[in-house]
Amino acid sequence: MSKAAKVVAALKVEDLTERQARAEQKRLTDEIAHHDKLYHEKDDPEISDAEYDRLRQRLKAIETRFSQLADMFSPTQKVAPPPTTAFAKVRHARPMLSLDNAFSEDEVREFIVRVRRALERDIDLAEDEQVALACEPKIDGLSISLRYEDGVFTVGATRGDGTTGEDVTPNLRTVKDIPHELKGKAPGSIEIRGEVYMERAAFLAMNKRQEADEEKVFANPRNAAAGSLRQLDSTITASRPLRFFAYAWGEAEPRTWKTQSEYLKLLKGWGFKVNPQSKLCRTPEQVLDYYAGMAAQRAALPYDIDGVVYKVDRIDWQERLGFVSRAPRWAIAHKFPAEQARTRLNDIVIQVGRTGALTPVADLEPVNVGGVMVARATLHNADEIERLDVRVGDTVIIQRAGDVIPQVLGFVPEERPKKTHKYEFPTHCPCPLKTKVASEEGGVVRRCSGGLECPFQQVERMRHFVSRYAFDIEGLGGTHIENFWRDGLLKTPADLFRLKERAGDIHKREGWGDLSVRNLLAAIDARRTIPLDRYIYAIGIPLIGEATAKLLAQEYGDADTWLAEMLAATGERKRKPDPLKKEKAVAEVGDSYGRLCNIEQIGVTTADAMCAFFGEGHTVDIIKDLRRQLTIEPVTRRVIAADALLKDKIVVFTGELSSMTRDAAKARAEELGAKVTDSVSKKTSLVVVGENAGSKARKAAELGVQTLTEEEWVKLSK
Ligand code: IVH
Repeated sequence: MSKAAKVVAALKVEDLTERQARAEQKRLTDEIAHHDKLYHEKDDPEISDAEYDRLRQRLKAIETRFSQLADMFSPTQKVAPPPTTAFAKVRHARPMLSLDNAFSEDEVREFIVRVRRALERDIDLAEDEQVALACEPKIDGLSISLRYEDGVFTVGATRGDGTTGEDVTPNLRTVKDIPHELKGKAPGSIEIRGEVYMERAAFLAMNKRQEADEEKVFANPRNAAAGSLRQLDSTITASRPLRFFAYAWGEAEPRTWKTQSEYLKLLKGWGFKVNPQSKLCRTPEQVLDYYAGMAAQRAALPYDIDGVVYKVDRIDWQERLGFVSRAPRWAIAHKFPAEQARTRLNDIVIQVGRTGALTPVADLEPVNVGGVMVARATLHNADEIERLDVRVGDTVIIQRAGDVIPQVLGFVPEERPKKTHKYEFPTHCPCPLKTKVASEEGGVVRRCSGGLECPFQQVERMRHFVSRYAFDIEGLGGTHIENFWRDGLLKTPADLFRLKERAGDIHKREGWGDLSVRNLLAAIDARRTIPLDRYIYAIGIPLIGEATAKLLAQEYGDADTWLAEMLAATGERKRKPDPLKKEKAVAEVGDSYGRLCNIEQIGVTTADAMCAFFGEGHTVDIIKDLRRQLTIEPVTRRVIAADALLKDKIVVFTGELSSMTRDAAKARAEELGAKVTDSVSKKTSLVVVGENAGSKARKAAELGVQTLTEEEWVKLSK
């Protein structure tokens, strides 16, 4: 951008001269066209939706203020660019429109007033008559239109430019939420519209698979959904976890329903998924409460939403209100505040984790991101900084998605100061030991080599020990651990259970009154008895998360057997220190080591990390000291009848089951004597393949492992 253009871009619309407005209109139009192309054709946007919305809003404001500039070819008059050519074109019987946006409560109230006024022009609304609004989450996916003739799915298309979309029928047939036939009595001819989307968890898992297969990874669930739907090979679409919510219609012959809420009920009856959060609201207050409720729930929903949509419920009123160019007058999208922001990167600091892993963290000029102040964001590792090339002094773009830790997405090149330096990862740890930083072989992680001696790691280990899924001690969050550690109250986990004797010392500190000390000690006492898996997890062994801790608890049954076996395995491994390449070698190392490696999902890497951990004499002293403070509940082993149907079988469930939950299926398999695991290997006896199954089903086929469909499984397990 030229200097002059930059100056104009920074001006408020009300301060622009007509000449400046003309230049700005051109710039915005070009920029919007550029981003439209990236978004719609490449499924690979450069800017956030919020930033895109801001461009459009500014252009619209210019065209409103300078009506002489309004242009029928302006992007504000269009829904989206015309579709690309790889797919056949489908003309929608009724255009697929977009929605106007509201970004504030005031704009929502204005919308409600506007609707009321417009209706009052034609009809007599009693003063106390409310215009009921159907409120729905605004799913962040892509809209599609499905044509059903006599109840049978015939053609499905993307929105395209609103008039003409792309024919993606074979791909849509693979989406499990889209019925091939409508149930019950449906209109003879109907276009059913709604949103194809991907759940966040499924998206993350899919990206992981893509990465492992060295395939394209997607920026977010919406791009992933769009990219997956616009595949020329529908078997690829079938392997992607696409979902569908129905919420609108195009052509409908005959249209028998009178309200949006009635239509949603019909959709359900025909066999569609309808968003369960939809609600009919009758007053502006109810509407705004709905918005606040959805904003609060947003992070907890399994899929992304970027706002809510309000629709006049009565269809005869919708028809009276009609449309303006790209959007209906009877509906509006109330968007959530942007969850991306720009701010200055003040510094890059290194955090030491409990296993010594060094994580670079962005120290930011505090900025409000979607209602939360953010001053730090993770930069993951040295490779990530290299990839982003962010430098101290840069203006960076940060993103906060739900309850996820804020992330740095990149920097703004135009705003890079003149003198910046490429970031160099420190060669020495910032911890008091100043150890030389070790790069893990082949990995991206760099570590402090101070081990148990490193005070930073000690504090992090204590933090982990009291955390939610470990000992879950309430009242010891934030900086307490650090302060207690510094003053010698808490050096190792066992010290926690000796804090009682130091109650006086705690009292002396600021902020600790009678009640809080008593509560803390009670919270600690309540954890003197602990299940074996939590205990194992809490110790903080590298690579041992909650799931693996459970497996270990299952395998060894009680704390003493477990520790004895870990020490035996460690001893065996020490006597055979060569790298183990083949699984065969495992048994040669020793029985205890072999037993450990043979636990499903453990294997040599994890076993070796555990042996390295238990190989430190100091560690074992700490664990034994802790052990003496606790009653550790053993795992009650399931008694499996000798003739159990699936005795000694290893079963994997993959894909989505429709007649039962995954947990219920797992529980049933275990009842029948099976061991249920997550990954397919040669040892797997049986893989139950649900819908949209991906790599596990493929792997089972490759390895020749027996597979069952859901139906077959149901029969077998009856
Ligand atoms: S109604 C004529 N309802 O938002 C009204 N749209 O910004 C048509 N969207 O194109 C849209 N959830 O892709 C409607 N519950 C919902 C929605 C929804 C997501 C999307 C849809 C639409 C876009 C408009």
